[in-house]
Amino acid sequence: MTTREATIKRTQSIPKEQMLKEINELRKVRNAVILAHNYQISEIQDIADFVGDSLGLSQQAAQTKAQTIIFCGVHFMAETAAILCPTKKVLIPDLDAGCSLAASINIDQLRDWKAEHPNALVVSYVNTTAEIKAESDYCCTSGNALKIVQSIPDDVEILFLPDMFLGSWVQKMTGRKNMHIWMGECHVHAAIHPQEIDQKIKEHPDAELLIHPECGCLTPYLDRVARAGNGDQLKVASTEGMIRRAADSPAKKFVVATEIGILHRLKKENPDKEFLPINSEMSCMFMKMITLEKLHRSLVEDVFEVTVPEEIAQKALKSIERMISIY
Ligand code: 13P
Ligand code: SF4
Repeated sequence: MTTREATIKRTQSIPKEQMLKEINELRKVRNAVILAHNYQISEIQDIADFVGDSLGLSQQAAQTKAQTIIFCGVHFMAETAAILCPTKKVLIPDLDAGCSLAASINIDQLRDWKAEHPNALVVSYVNTTAEIKAESDYCCTSGNALKIVQSIPDDVEILFLPDMFLGSWVQKMTGRKNMHIWMGECHVHAAIHPQEIDQKIKEHPDAELLIHPECGCLTPYLDRVARAGNGDQLKVASTEGMIRRAADSPAKKFVVATEIGILHRLKKENPDKEFLPINSEMSCMFMKMITLEKLHRSLVEDVFEVTVPEEIAQKALKSIERMISIY
């Protein structure tokens, strides 16, 4: 048996309490910070030093004094941390934790698109590879996509990628005509149909509706969203925006249209409120690849390091820094 196989075997046989104890000891020894996305399984969220959305996690990575960052999220998020913290070690507990949205555009496709629109600025959603970010002028998250596009002069053409639903929402809210949108999508959010929203609203007329802008169901609601502003029973928000809204809103019941992992934090932080998933099947298999066993192994074996070639990292850093400065 190899050392690796032996570690996996041992990890699998450790009782949960013991595993949590070892994770807590090891993170001190390794001077490691554990960052977890809002879609992670509840055990990972509960043990993390910080839980947040893509923007918040990037900000935490940029600020941390820890030597090692264990990124409990998907690969592009760990890459972003590695770009922001070139002197630190960034580990992801499972290298296969990818993202269908990030995979919806490759570098050749982006270069061809740019060649068709030589005067356009490229705004890339953070759910992209480091290579794509390096070819972009701005990076954005669902939390600041609107502000980033609004910060670009009206007469400048924009290529927005890769999420078509987020892009359509930004276009609608800004009224921008010179914005071209890549036809990419996240398989989890794209699968939600407007009928499901209509049905839930009918069943729970007293509930507030929280919708992530990656949702396929959002497009038919855009006119309503544009009219609604913030006071209506409908709020389009990043995952962290949903957490804030749930705390601030006078509503006692919420229908949540995003990945179900977020329900853990919503319920934990608002025990007097009720949260209903728009669809309980809405689960991202990539986010769920990170388990306590894999986090433990990451700390024991110092795996799996995520690095970005320096030339790409330097170029990508410029667009990421613009993203972090506008929020
Ligand atoms: P947030 O930045 O809103 O957390 O979204 C990240 C993501 O992957 C959504 O699917
Ligand atoms: Fe990517 Fe969708 Fe999973 Fe978010 S939910 S990480 S966009 S596949």
